[in-house]
Amino acid sequence: NSQSNQFCEAGIGYGEVGCGLSSSTKLLIKGGTVVNAHHQEVADVYVEDGIIVAVKPDLKVTDDVKVIDATGKFVMPGGIDPHTHLAMEFMGTETIDDFFSGQAAALAGGTTMHIDFVIPVNGSLIAGLESYEEKAKKSCMDYGFHMAITKFDDSVSRDMEIMVKEKGINSFKFFLAYKGSLMVNDELLLEGLKQCKSLGALAMVHAENGDAVFEGQKRMIQLGITGPEGHALSRPPLLEGEATARAIRLAGFVNTPLYVVHVMSIDAMEEIAKARKSGQRVVGEPVVSGLVLDDSGLWDSDFATASKFVMSPPIRAAGHNKVLQGALSNGVLQLVGTDHCVFNSTQKAFGIDDFRKIPNGVNGIEERMHLVWDTMVESGQISVNDFVRVTSTECARIFNIYPRKGAIITGSDADIIILNPNSSFEINAQSHHSRTDTNVYEGRRGKL
Ligand code: URP
Ligand code: ZN
Ligand code: ZN
Ligand code: ZN
Repeated sequence: NSQSNQFCEAGIGYGEVGCGLSSSTKLLIKGGTVVNAHHQEVADVYVEDGIIVAVKPDLKVTDDVKVIDATGKFVMPGGIDPHTHLAMEFMGTETIDDFFSGQAAALAGGTTMHIDFVIPVNGSLIAGLESYEEKAKKSCMDYGFHMAITKFDDSVSRDMEIMVKEKGINSFKFFLAYKGSLMVNDELLLEGLKQCKSLGALAMVHAENGDAVFEGQKRMIQLGITGPEGHALSRPPLLEGEATARAIRLAGFVNTPLYVVHVMSIDAMEEIAKARKSGQRVVGEPVVSGLVLDDSGLWDSDFATASKFVMSPPIRAAGHNKVLQGALSNGVLQLVGTDHCVFNSTQKAFGIDDFRKIPNGVNGIEERMHLVWDTMVESGQISVNDFVRVTSTECARIFNIYPRKGAIITGSDADIIILNPNSSFEINAQSHHSRTDTNVYEGRRGKL
């Protein structure tokens, strides 16, 4: 796709694997309420060879067409998760969900495409992409890649151009945290922002002040706080707000758009609100954990329970979640990701004596659609059209894959989900499809 939009002038490349429909399949989804971000109507959707051919009421078809009755149900574009980490090597281990198990979980939860982060190998973008292309060979659904930038020199600058012009990667992430591993300093961030601007690519940031986090961690250990609660105490919202403000100002200085990943605090959200109000192009991505959970789990006396909630930036004290929900409904934040990055209890136990060694990350790829529906639509905070926008359409627009993805219109890919608003099931680790043995959303409810 080589369309341009308000954020990226560069197109995205993605793997197209299967889509659940084999070629020459003819399918009619009949009588449902077809919901797009801009419109909804009761209509039939006719699909041929994985492409939507017609969206109209009362379509007549021949006998060889498979018919699904969707009366009383919502027919919507499949979810697109803008933020996942499958088969990622991180903190001395590797995430337990790979491109097969993570995608199987995604599909079970109504997400039909995800965008994962390529991590360079020894700073090399080309080697990083080769490694992720290998990992992604076991894919069972559509995916795309962002690319992390962990060092900057002439070869990285050149490789960024190759990524955009030849590999279809149009978004680059800069980690302002994880001192000693992925973190970049302001000088590198500025170089990266300038190169994003010149390539028409979108810069993304993990916004926490990594130097101050390092200091906060030392303080906790000196105080004898070694449990999972030390993770949250060592990296308060203040440090997320500072890094968000800094990244926004530097992007403003370079005059290039910025995408802030996993907005977890009021502090960070307010910086985004302020920038947007002043006319700066800043996108804010809350993740489902930050929207629906609070930090109480981190204080559980059972290590296995508390450690499963460890992610960065941390899940915040009660109150941040409600305010982030409000910011999603009023448009300050635009789309919902997951940051799905899962480690099992054995991996989390690497940090049993020291919270700094607990691999960071929580699940969500399977639960995102359910929990956004449950928390935002059922409560009346957003409409069904907005649900489609924040779980699918906006992501497709930002990363240049709209309207092939993110819409049920003639000519689009048939990445379609059907949701029954009258159904209900309980989310738990026994029945989920991820390989991990815990679930941070245990006991919450979803729709089938
Ligand atoms: O805890 C997290 N978020 N793990 C994944 C890496 C990242 O920062 O996105
Ligand atoms: Zn597809
Ligand atoms: Zn991050
Ligand atoms: Zn992440």
